[in-house]
Amino acid sequence: MARISLRQLLDHAAERGYGVPAFNINNMEQGLAIMEAAAACDAPVIMQASRGARAYTGDIMLAKMIDALEEMYPQIPLCLHLDHGNEESSCATAIRYGFTSVMMDGSLKADARTAADYDYNVDITRRVAEMAHWIGASVEGELGVLGSLEHGGGEQEDGHGAEGQLSQDQLLTDPDQAVDFVRATKVDALAIAMGTSHGAYKFTRRPDGEILAMRVVEEIHARLPNTHLVMHGSSSVPQPLQDMFNAFGGEMPQTWGVPVEEIVRGIRHGVRKVNIDTDCRLAMAAAFRKVATQSRSEFDPRKFLKPAMDALRELCRDRFEQFGTAGNAGKIKVVPLSEMARRYRAGALDPQIGSITQAA
Ligand code: G3H
Ligand code: 13P
Ligand code: ZN
Repeated sequence: MARISLRQLLDHAAERGYGVPAFNINNMEQGLAIMEAAAACDAPVIMQASRGARAYTGDIMLAKMIDALEEMYPQIPLCLHLDHGNEESSCATAIRYGFTSVMMDGSLKADARTAADYDYNVDITRRVAEMAHWIGASVEGELGVLGSLEHGGGEQEDGHGAEGQLSQDQLLTDPDQAVDFVRATKVDALAIAMGTSHGAYKFTRRPDGEILAMRVVEEIHARLPNTHLVMHGSSSVPQPLQDMFNAFGGEMPQTWGVPVEEIVRGIRHGVRKVNIDTDCRLAMAAAFRKVATQSRSEFDPRKFLKPAMDALRELCRDRFEQFGTAGNAGKIKVVPLSEMARRYRAGALDPQIGSITQAA
């Protein structure tokens, strides 16, 4: 069995300088495709389920599916992570169903659309970290609000995301506040805001430093060299996938995502977890469209799902290779959550605050 905590996996990634894609899942086909890709290149895996995914799949189905994937691929360390938990109860119930890590997104209030203030965020994230660490599970917090630096709007996708206009202060995580936040909450990983947003429509042009502020990642890493950083909204929305989707009847206006080379730059500056959902959806949906268009009499769902899984497998394999995740699964000896809990209690996993210049 190889169910790993996010903290152990990201500690390994930091020691060896790689990043780990965190792919969102909702169903068996996605789970299988991701694990097949990981097994093919010996990569450890983060699968994450949103509250929407849990509602769609059901916690029992999701938990048993992950059990099955773990049994099928015992050689692959597998972290099951809650994406964008909105309150203590969503985090606690996830852990009960076998999640080894949760995100407490206190950048938004429990309605998942109202931007929260700093004190609210610290308070709820600290409480979730305390609870999760008792049982050895890991916690990701978020400081700053995801949204576009082009138009100042938050993003609303499937009922999640800030409503209305956001200030630059909200859209760009403040490095000094990040130090205070990590110290106060004891999170294992920190999601930051620097101009990315969820979904396909992130940028209206190929992003430069004005609208994708990678400098913020570098500044935060300089102040928090031992903290694992997380990039949300990190789909690249590859042009070939947009073209394929549109070639088979889709209507996706031209858009730009986060270029893979910018993510790789982030990985050189402390980014360890890279959230990807849209690209997986687009890869599968483009494959569905192709079958629907080219084989108009087809009605066997497997004939749609099989090529969609192939497309997803290829995408995941690319990201494992590009982020340096490949080749690391076999190097990890999984520490059980009970031992992680003991280490938290002993204070051995407290965040180490310090700057790169101080450390040097
Ligand atoms: O957080 C955003 C992810 O893309 C999850 O989306 O809530 O539709 O599953 P979802
Ligand atoms: P994308 O929409 O860019 O794939 O981002 C997914 C994400 O951040 C999930 O938390
Ligand atoms: Zn996200």
